[in-house]
Amino acid sequence: MRIIVLDNDTDFEGWRRAARRLALNDVKPAEVAWTIRRDDELSSASCVNELPDAPQAQFNVPAIFVELAKAAILHRNDERFALLYRLLWRLRSHHDLLSATDDPDVAEVHAMARAVYCDIDRMHTHLRFREIGRERTAHYVAWFEPEHRIVELAAPFFAGRFADMPWSILTPDVSAHWDGHAISITPGVAKSEVPSEDRLEEAWRRHDNGLFNPARLKVMEMPQAYWRNLPEDSIIKPLIEDAMRMTSDPFIARKAAEPRKPQDPPMARKQTQDAQARDAIAALRDEAADCRACPLWKDATQTVFGEGPQNATLMLVGEQPGDKEDLAGHPFVGPAGQMLDRALEDAGIDRASVYITNAVKHFKFVPRGKVRLHQKPNTPEIRACRQWYERELAAIKPELVVALGATAAQSVLGKITPINKNRGRLIDHDGTKVLVTVHPSYLLRLPDEKAKALEYQRFIDDLKIAADQLRNSARAA
Ligand code: URA
Repeated sequence: MRIIVLDNDTDFEGWRRAARRLALNDVKPAEVAWTIRRDDELSSASCVNELPDAPQAQFNVPAIFVELAKAAILHRNDERFALLYRLLWRLRSHHDLLSATDDPDVAEVHAMARAVYCDIDRMHTHLRFREIGRERTAHYVAWFEPEHRIVELAAPFFAGRFADMPWSILTPDVSAHWDGHAISITPGVAKSEVPSEDRLEEAWRRHDNGLFNPARLKVMEMPQAYWRNLPEDSIIKPLIEDAMRMTSDPFIARKAAEPRKPQDPPMARKQTQDAQARDAIAALRDEAADCRACPLWKDATQTVFGEGPQNATLMLVGEQPGDKEDLAGHPFVGPAGQMLDRALEDAGIDRASVYITNAVKHFKFVPRGKVRLHQKPNTPEIRACRQWYERELAAIKPELVVALGATAAQSVLGKITPINKNRGRLIDHDGTKVLVTVHPSYLLRLPDEKAKALEYQRFIDDLKIAADQLRNSARAA
């Protein structure tokens, strides 16, 4: 019996070299055992070199066999190397073997390759990146558990699609990292080693809000071995160090760990209501993450749900997440979001006090090379997604809804509503006040600077109507 030791589970080149030499030396499939090198073993080459040199003879296999073998070798079936060698052996005398689909070996290799392609497709469709870090230090991380060993084959798709975003895909087998230039592969990680997304997001949220409670930080929950390869190391470390420094200050540590004082009843009641609304939105967000009500989920990275305080009196509704929002998982964080931020500020509205969402919660686009071109959602897609807006509205109960652009107006008012004819006035709709105005990306698209300035001012004027309305009703209350 010949024992062939391959370098790793997906060592196609090693298998090909060995199989070729074995076949040319007439070593029958039943005389070969295939295994993977353990860390303490020498390279596979020594085992293959024990075979006599390949005779001058040549043989070719159909190109389709090479394609099938490259895919099937990624299958978790332990018999894959033996099956592939058996097929190679038989192909020497039966060149059309692969078209004999009732042959058990042929059927099996096709089934294995199909399973691998399906798994790649599943990864391309379902992988969800989360943003960690912010702005220049932003990095996108996804956890995925592939059925087969597909990461290296599947990863280039993400490099093409998210070319300008640094990302890491973490799996139990291997991890793939993209820095904008090249993909690198590092060992896999156990799920237990991956900081939970919620924990990470929660840490960021607290940090961003200045509410980070250092006494609660457990460094062991962010394994450094795992984060070592990520640029966030530079962010997480200072965060932890800061927390350590603060907790070593006995006063701060005591304050942070102190139980909160009981609050006066009205405040406590208000907080209970807010907590209920928060739970409702969190539950909706979880539910919407698996929304399949229209086909847009298939190409989008993730559902981008609404965000903002649950006691918000103002709700802004946009069209749909754009490229940046789709990757980050947050509404209005890209160029239109920056325009919106500026306009809100100029209108005297604090973005942090507003609940912001979109009529359609998945990014609709067509790929053009490395770019994903935004596509306007159609009426069936707007209708399919409306349930989420209705449920957000019921949970938040804002006093005023501002619909940004035609898609938002159609969703909020339940019918096609021309913007220019309806903007600038409050509309009563099913007990909620609604104001329609243009979408901030309309302003970004205007080519003429003068028109841009004019339209921007009109947009501010619309937002000021919203601000005045909220101020007046707050005063009346
Ligand atoms: N445009 C939108 O309508 N919503 C976003 O979240 C981003 C861009």
